[in-house]
Order: sequence, then C-alpha cells, then structure tokens
Amino acid sequence: MIDYRHLRVALLGAGAVGSQVAALLLKHGEELADRAGASLELAGIAVRDLDAPRDTDLPRELFTTDADSLIVGADIVIELMGGIEPARTRVLQAINSGADVVTANKALLATHGPEIFDAADQVGAQVYYEAAAAGAIPIIRPLRDSLAGDRVQRIMGIVNGTTNYILDRMDTEGADFADVLAQAQALGYAEADPTADVEGYDAAQKAAILASLAFHTAVPLESVHREGITEITTSMMDAARHAGYVIKLLAVCERLTGHEPSASGEAISVRVYPALVPRTHPLASVHGANNAVFVEAEAAGSLMFYGAGAGGVQTASAVLGDVVSAARRHVAGGVGVGESTRANLPVLEIGHAVTRYQITLEVDDRPGVLAIIATILSEGRVSIATVEQTVIADDGEAGARARLVIGTHKAREQDLSDTVARLAESDVVETVVSVLRVEGN
Ligand code: NDP
Ligand code: HSE
Repeated sequence: MIDYRHLRVALLGAGAVGSQVAALLLKHGEELADRAGASLELAGIAVRDLDAPRDTDLPRELFTTDADSLIVGADIVIELMGGIEPARTRVLQAINSGADVVTANKALLATHGPEIFDAADQVGAQVYYEAAAAGAIPIIRPLRDSLAGDRVQRIMGIVNGTTNYILDRMDTEGADFADVLAQAQALGYAEADPTADVEGYDAAQKAAILASLAFHTAVPLESVHREGITEITTSMMDAARHAGYVIKLLAVCERLTGHEPSASGEAISVRVYPALVPRTHPLASVHGANNAVFVEAEAAGSLMFYGAGAGGVQTASAVLGDVVSAARRHVAGGVGVGESTRANLPVLEIGHAVTRYQITLEVDDRPGVLAIIATILSEGRVSIATVEQTVIADDGEAGARARLVIGTHKAREQDLSDTVARLAESDVVETVVSVLRVEGN
C-alpha cells in the first residue's frame, strides 16, 4: 500500500448529486487515491436535516448540520447545497480557510463568480466547477484549457436536462407538461425550485458561465437574454413536427463583429430561448435529459460535446473529476489555470441578434391580404423565405380565415419584433399565433 499524502474532503449537501458523490468517493476511494496521488478522506457531510430520507446508504456518523466546523481543516470542500446562501458564505469560508473548492452551483457562479474567483486568487486557492454546466459532459475544461489557444466564435447547445426531457416527451408522446415536469423532479434532474429550469434561468446561468470562459469576458447574468418553455404547447410541437422541426430550449453565445462599443468592433450576444431546430440537425436527436453543446472555434472548427446533462450519479462523475484535479494540485503545488476576463467585450442586447424566424398568423382570407403582409415585412427589412397557407374557415369572403406560416431569412431581432408589432396592429391579421426563432441551419 502506497503511503499517500492524506487529504480531508468536506461535502456540503447530500441530495441528488451529493449523495452519489459520497457513495462513489467511499466505494472507489483507493482507485481515486492512485489517480490523485493522495488519499481522500470523506471527513463529513453537512446537511439541513439529519433525519431526511436518503436514497443512498451512507454511514450515519458522517452526517452533521455543523457545516462551519466541517470546513475548518478541510483540504477540499465540495459544495452541493445549491442556491446562493448559505452556499456563497460557505464557499468563501472554505477558500479563506485554505481549501480548494469544487462546486456544481451555476446559480452561485453566474451571480457571484467574480467575488469567488477574486477571493480564491487572493489566497492562491482554486475553484473547480466542471459540473456547473451540462452535468456530466466535460465542457468547462475544454473551453478553459483545451481551447485556450484558439478563438471561440460560437457556442450553441442544449444545456438544461429538465427542459429537454419535458420537450422531448411532449414531442414524442404528446405528454402533459405538468406530468413530465413532476417526473423530471422525481428523477433528480430538476433544480430545488423547478422554475429555474422551465423559465430558462438555469440555462441562462450556464450560458453566462460558458460565454465568460469562451470569450474571456465577465458576462453578467443580467446581460443574458432569457426565455423559458412555459409558453410551448403540444399544438406548437405538432405544428413544428409538421414543418420538419423540433422545439428545443437553446443557449446561443456568439462573437459578433462590426459593433461600435468596443475598440476591436467585436461584441458578444448571449441568449437562451426555445427555438425550432430542423429534424435533420444533430441537436434534434438529443433526447431525454441529455445535453449537447456545439463549439465553433477559429482554428479547431466545429466540435460537439454530448451526454447526460442532469442526474445525480452522472453529475457526480464531473464532481469527482474535479476532486481528483484538486487533490493533484495539493500534491504537486502551484496555481491552477485561472479565469481570464481580459478581452472585456461588450455584451449586446437581444435586439442586435441575427437569426431566422417562423411567424404564424391567423389572417383574413381575401384578395390582397398576402400583399399587405409582404409589404409590412419588406418595410421592416424582414425577408420572406417561405410561406405556407392553410384555410381554417371558409364561410364566404367576409368570414374566411387562413393560417399563414412565414419562414424568414436571417433578420435582426429588433427589426423582426418591430415588424411583428406592425403585423399585430394590421387590419388583415386576426392573431399572431406564435413567433419562434429558427436555429441550426
Ligand atoms: P438537492 O436539492 O437534491 O440537494 C441539496 C442538498 O443540500 C441536500 O442534501 C440539503 O440537505 C443540502 N442543503 C441545502 N441547504 C443546506 C443548508 N443550508 N445547510 C446544509 N445543507 C443544506 O440538490 P442537487 O443535489 O440536485 O443539486 C446540488 C447542486 O448541484 C445544485 O447547485 C445544482 O444546481 C447542481 N447540479 C445538479 C444537477 C442535478 O442533476 N441534480 C446536475 C448539475 C448540477 P437536506 O438533504 O438535509 O435537505
Ligand atoms: N436542473 C439542471 C438541469 C441540472 O435540468 O439541467 C443540471 O445542471
């Protein structure tokens, strides 16, 4: 038996992820010691309620409600409580008491990242957070380390497992939104408050983290445009399928050129919204709670990262990878790879984004209507790519109505929303049924 250096690991939280981290750490301790070059003692597990039922069979004596004392003397603190407080206080306490921190807490990093990374820099500690974006998928290290010599141009992906699970079940089985959300919660995919998932907050936090790394710029969460999936209905899903699309909640982070506010003319756009994705696109075949992230870099070209985006044991894999990295650093010494925000690019508002759209309208079905609509689009600098008309009521010219599905070429978001507002006011338009972005071709 090798006489490894001994490291104390404090675990904060034993929920869906924390309980699996503890179980794997205890089960594979010797193997992890060989990989880390240090033996890893699980010193204790802080929870809120000592009597709460736990899925995994962990030694009761490890549990405590005294996180404060557990952190003192720990070499590595794993924060898996979630939320902002007391997670923020505990993470800062761990850093200031000389520990490295491993966290999966995207809400915390997206809101208090600069404060936490500054605190770590001050004392030479390291914060690891591979599990904070896209669950088990290695995406933080590739962006921070592997692509450090390249220039990332664009990231587009599915970064929330719960919403992908819901949309996928709605699409493939016509399942009810509320029922599938309850199943996603039972499977341990959803956040403690699932509003974070379905309203796009979780994906926006991950987009802020990924964009910060990719573009070497601190991206404040408030600058990320966010829309969730609560307005998506099974009839929208059916219409999308009919047109050869599937609806996915996407995060898009891109570098844009030709913008005034920065000296280089470069700026970035970071946004989260449900979008139509062609059924032939690889993102369309991301099912269940899986995630997929496409990265386009100047030299590397297109890269795709795919795998489990949520789930306790899957996420525990990413957390334990970070624990091994932290342990190796303790053994080898030296600072790890730091955050880089030196590019400091401006983050543009959604109005500057450029993409394709599908506009669905209910209109009067009489001569000249199409011409009026085409004029409004053309005056708004929105170019029509496709038009499909279906008659929905044909009771003479006065009462005849049709559904128009208009696909556009790429347009600026501000032009598109101004144009949709004009369409909504027009006498020939009964209802603007939906406006969806089209991504992926
Ligand atoms: P859970 O809600 O399942 O578990 C939270 C755990 O933290 C519980 O054990 C809870 O204790 C403990 N806890 C909460 N507040 C306190 C407190 N004030 N003091 C002490 N302990 C506390 O969360 P998850 O395991 O799902 O998620 C943990 C983190 O991982 C979150 O940041 C989440 O965003 C992130 N994440 C989750 C993924 C997933 O698939 N679930 C995937 C990727 C990241 P008790 O058990 O007593 O209630
Ligand atoms: N609630 C998150 C999701 C967990 O569904 O993706 C993984 O970050």
